[in-house]
Amino acid sequence: MGVENLNEELINCARAARFAAIEDYFKSDANRLSAFLKQFGGILFDFSKSKLSENDLIGLLHLASAMGLEEKRAQMFGGGEVNLTENRAVLHMALRDSGRNWQAKGQDVSSTLKAEMVRASEFAKKIHSGIIRTNNGERFKSIVHIGIGGSDLGPRLVYEALKSSDNDFIEIRFCANIEPNELATAISGLDPKTTLIVCVSKTFTTIETLTNLNLARDWLKQGGIVDDTSHLVAISAAPAKAIAQGFAENRIFGFEDWVGGRFSLWSSVGLSLEMALGGDIIAALRAGAQAMDEHFETAPLAENIPILAGLIAVWNAKYMDYQTRASIPYSTKLKLLPQFLQQLDMESNGKSTGVDGAPINISGPIVWGAEGTNAQHAFFQHLHQSPIVTPIEFVLVANDGLNNAASTRLTHANALAQGEALMRGKSLDSVMSQMLAQGQSSLEISKTAPHRVFHGNRPSNTIILPKLDAFNLGALLAYYEHRCFVEGVIYGVNSFDQWGVELGKTIALEINDDLETGASSARDPSTKALIDFLREGFS
Ligand code: F6P
Repeated sequence: MGVENLNEELINCARAARFAAIEDYFKSDANRLSAFLKQFGGILFDFSKSKLSENDLIGLLHLASAMGLEEKRAQMFGGGEVNLTENRAVLHMALRDSGRNWQAKGQDVSSTLKAEMVRASEFAKKIHSGIIRTNNGERFKSIVHIGIGGSDLGPRLVYEALKSSDNDFIEIRFCANIEPNELATAISGLDPKTTLIVCVSKTFTTIETLTNLNLARDWLKQGGIVDDTSHLVAISAAPAKAIAQGFAENRIFGFEDWVGGRFSLWSSVGLSLEMALGGDIIAALRAGAQAMDEHFETAPLAENIPILAGLIAVWNAKYMDYQTRASIPYSTKLKLLPQFLQQLDMESNGKSTGVDGAPINISGPIVWGAEGTNAQHAFFQHLHQSPIVTPIEFVLVANDGLNNAASTRLTHANALAQGEALMRGKSLDSVMSQMLAQGQSSLEISKTAPHRVFHGNRPSNTIILPKLDAFNLGALLAYYEHRCFVEGVIYGVNSFDQWGVELGKTIALEINDDLETGASSARDPSTKALIDFLREGFS
């Protein structure tokens, strides 16, 4: 069957699914758990609380094949020009498997890749072990990692997830935002004499990063460091630009243009992590991701976890019209996951032009979230009772390594309770009989019962990591990367460009001039009034 017909069929299936109850799928399909609950190593992925039947899933799998998902996946792993608007291959998987022969657009890239990764790792090892020291012979005690977007979110997430008192002799502070409090906070309490500034920018043109770099260099100078080159490291796919800024060549670590910013954690963009946490942790992170790559590349479609997740995500957004999705990690150490996913998913798939240049009217959903249980006391009201349905992905850590079984159990209980409550809901009848049994008056019952109804029938995924170590985290992040790719293929977009960020950047530079000079006459009346207010206040 062709794509059009499969699509029509899925639209009809979704119409029926709107009237179906998730709980009934379990009753009518004895096979549901084996179709929707998958294990990858020690990680459990439960997709069974999705609002689709096994037949609907089969329809989605047919659609994936008809849309050439397997061919597109092979093209990506084979180094084809997948990122068509930037004429690039997409090969972040090569960064976690340097043993394979990788080609980008027909050119062998393995040997240069391996050489650069070894060079970066050797440098990191020397910083970590104190072989490379400051000019005064002291060990570096802190790193200020300056970068934004993909040059920040992945390293920041991994640092928060994996730092521990065993590896805290080099502390990393992150600085992304151009707003001046960010750098002030990042350097607060640090000694410039023992601080390494790591400037991370794929393009080395990003205004936030370069502005913060200049401020950080001023801080080094004020701290008595006259020649700052030994305190500076640059990570960039444009090394010439770093050289032009005065970075020493042997402190610049490159990566290739076929590594997209939001997929770049695995490259030298993660060097701060390697310097602070040590090479073993980074190797394990990459190994976990590589294992997920292998699964994604080879597992049959119906067993392939990122593919199942991607298809269910498309079902939710495109066929069920659920326009947002939330990531709720029940782990403080993973609290940055929703932000990481916001960039990964929304920068990749938030598009309205297909790969062929034709308009499309649906792509990826709005992604948001926060860590449980805090989120329960903030926005779960909306998730349970608003007419807007938001599919959730819960992430739990089975063994948090802490000696507090009661808190851990309660954390798990809360996560599972939310998934069950969202699915099961609570009907008006059941609310009323409960209130009656509690002896409440009929006046009270008729007044408040409708407010206590839970619609239920709301979908969620649950992922359980056995523990939050580097391997499992690597596998989890690669799972998200591949899910994002799968969604992009089915929406028909190029998930690897981000033209939508450009217009604001250009206008920001113009307005920066207007704010300085007051020459805002070319702007719209609203923006002109705002500029005037910032310059002078209202008179
Ligand atoms: O503005 C968006 C973006 O280009 C992201 O895609 C990227 O991760 C971020 O800016 C930072 O870019 P760079 O690493 O080139 O400084």
